[in-house]
Amino acid sequence: MSDLLRVENLAVHIGGLVAIADASFVVPAGQVVSLIGPNGAGKTTAFNVITGYMRPTKGRILFDGAEITGLAPDRIAERGIVRSFQRTSVFTGCTVLENALMALHRRGSAGLLGALFRLPSARREEARLREEAWAMLEFVGLAERADTLAEVLAYGEQRRLGIALAAIAGPRLLLLDEPAAGLNPSETAACMALIRQLRDRGATILLVEHDMPMVMQISDGIVVLNQGRIIASGAPAEIRANPEVIRAYLGSGDWQEAAHAAA
Ligand SMILES: Nc1ncnc2c1ncn2[C@@H]1O[C@H](COP(=O)(O)OP(=O)(O)OP(=O)(O)O)[C@@H](O)[C@H]1O
Ligand SMILES: [Mg+2]
Repeated sequence: MSDLLRVENLAVHIGGLVAIADASFVVPAGQVVSLIGPNGAGKTTAFNVITGYMRPTKGRILFDGAEITGLAPDRIAERGIVRSFQRTSVFTGCTVLENALMALHRRGSAGLLGALFRLPSARREEARLREEAWAMLEFVGLAERADTLAEVLAYGEQRRLGIALAAIAGPRLLLLDEPAAGLNPSETAACMALIRQLRDRGATILLVEHDMPMVMQISDGIVVLNQGRIIASGAPAEIRANPEVIRAYLGSGDWQEAAHAAA
């Protein structure tokens, strides 16, 4: 299987602080890979570097074989790497359907000029976009909420809308930073189902998540970061049996819960 993303010898120093020391890992195409580790391990920093929001001190990032290290965020997004910013990517004053339509417009194809002059091709495009918006809302289970203002959605629904808006961009690699944070068990299950469906539709997913039962169930591969270093990587079964991983997480309720869930 080919590696869609390769992170090679990545180091990120912020002021005097070493956020990432020397990290190498890969994300194979078509898989869900989770990047886990205690608070402050460097997970979000890794996302920031992969998506171009921070420059690494050292190391290379390769996407589909081409180097993307240090490119601007929009250049990286153009190549098909999309990150969900969860709530911040949702326009709360607009309805769910309007949010979906805006995300589709951002992706664009008729272009701004077509939209301005209402060209026939643009009108056809508009009808097609509406259909696609509805399909996406059906897909994420928000079709009945299409006319609801995003701000009155339940928390779990808002999170799902955030993922849907990122997915609308048609990413090849989708980065999700703690999508299940604050969700109740049924919302977490819905979020997990959505991530699986996105993978089944061809997206590759890099996930940062503290919910260990979820990580264990959903991941094809897991990369464990601790104090800016990768201490383990492998299939879920290997990771939960790894003594160094257990040590890094000792005292963490999350991990004990995971061990029970996995037992
Ligand atoms: N912009 C910044 N300025 C200063 N320090 C930063 C910045 N971003 C991250 N850090 C530091 O880098 C280290 C890694 O932080 P990061 O946010 O990547 O951790 P994380 O693994 O995402 O943690 P969490 O699970 O709590 O989200 C931490 O020590 C953090 O304080
Ligand atoms: Mg983080």
